[in-house]
Amino acid sequence: MDETISNITPADLRGILNYVPRFLGQTFVISLDGSIIDNENLPNILLDIAVLRSLQIKVVIVHGIGKQIEELSTDRGIQISNIDGSGPTDPATLDLAIRASSRASHQILEALTQTGLKCAITNSVRSTPIGVLKGVDHQRSGKVDRIDAEFLNHLVAQNIIPIIQPIGFDRNGHTLRINSDLLAIETAFALKATKAIFVTELEGLQIDGELKRQLPVGILESKLADNGSFEDKALSKAQHALTGVKGGISRIHILDGNIHDGLVREVFSNEGVGTLVYGNEYQQIRQAQRSDITRIYHLTSGSVEKDELARRSIESIESEIGNFYVYEIDGNLIGCVLISQFKETPGTAEINALFVHSLHQRQGIGSKLANFACLKALENGSNQILALSTQNFSFFQSVCGFRETDINALPESRRQAYQQQNRQSKILIKDL
Ligand SMILES: CC(C)(COP(=O)(O)OP(=O)(O)OC[C@H]1O[C@@H](n2cnc3c(N)ncnc32)[C@H](O)[C@@H]1OP(=O)(O)O)[C@@H](O)C(=O)NCCC(=O)NCCS
Repeated sequence: MDETISNITPADLRGILNYVPRFLGQTFVISLDGSIIDNENLPNILLDIAVLRSLQIKVVIVHGIGKQIEELSTDRGIQISNIDGSGPTDPATLDLAIRASSRASHQILEALTQTGLKCAITNSVRSTPIGVLKGVDHQRSGKVDRIDAEFLNHLVAQNIIPIIQPIGFDRNGHTLRINSDLLAIETAFALKATKAIFVTELEGLQIDGELKRQLPVGILESKLADNGSFEDKALSKAQHALTGVKGGISRIHILDGNIHDGLVREVFSNEGVGTLVYGNEYQQIRQAQRSDITRIYHLTSGSVEKDELARRSIESIESEIGNFYVYEIDGNLIGCVLISQFKETPGTAEINALFVHSLHQRQGIGSKLANFACLKALENGSNQILALSTQNFSFFQSVCGFRETDINALPESRRQAYQQQNRQSKILIKDL
């Protein structure tokens, strides 16, 4: 029997189920550096991509050609004007870039075919010349003008993985060379991707010699402002990760492509094997203030009437206001959550009064509030969190990763209140 299959236990398969709703239907842009395409680990990376596809994650591949163009330049004795498409591309370099590109794309095509995945090399990028920068004519180097998201989404919907070369075409169909890091980020913007993953020869991003596994975008920005924090090879990734996260891609990974199952481990384990650059997803959530008391009361009252939420008087909201958090858009309060800690069992917290205004539901706000509550509870020393729900228990189960439990999981004081309220809520729990 295949050793990898014999190592999988039925319990592992159950664990996999947790990941299905987590990334279902999301788009990941995976950018493969030219050196990685030539790496013997490429088939494993593409196998990991097959795993992502099997979990209904939409994948688009962008690739670089740095290594391929360097080799062609040496083989043919042609000097290149710039290696990565960020500087000037003269006609001889453009010619090598086109050849390097078809070779790199072909290698991906071949390896994807061996993995049993369908793919297509696309002409989905419209480009315009970079032009003259600080007196330097960039000749045939281009920037991204437009990405044909409709075309790419159409391919993905047909179960075809689009492969995007670092080559674009201007309005007249003339070819331009594009930097692949820039292209990956622009593609992720156009497709509203939730992740961009740079698969590189780097272990991740190092700051002042120390490898960072998790990097908040604020720190990345300040380190980029201090010239010299990043090695040359990592600088372009760092700069484009900053642009990406600031532009709304919530997570950008810089990943070591030499690791056997690195891509799957980076996406699905908390430890990760590269560097994750992340933005502040929770910036619209703030601790409630006394001035929010009546707004929270009115916001949630409709759900109380429908028995989705337990009744809370103005006084009871007031007494717990320090544990309420609210979600605001342009100063309007559109969601809230209450995080309760139990004195008798400090390791247990409860998520309460989770509510999102009906006009704003199904935009990820409810799960953001729930995830935020879990993070806060963890920060406050809890290792598990409860949720009691009458009608939205499957939201907690399938979207937020809770599992059903019974009344014995409730701390004593909560058990008594539960019995008195007699709402027959389902009891759910999540380990933090
Ligand atoms: C439950 C609630 C907080 C979800 O908020 P939301 O902002 O719509 O949630 P998100 O956008 O993060 O998640 C949406 C996903 O959750 C799913 N979802 C929402 N309610 C669900 C439910 N009752 N059962 C199963 N899934 C549900 C949706 O199908 C959606 O999935 P999709 O993106 O595939 O369409 C919101 O519906 C609400 O305020 N309900 C009334 C109050 C309530 O019952 N609160 C919970 C008790 S404490």
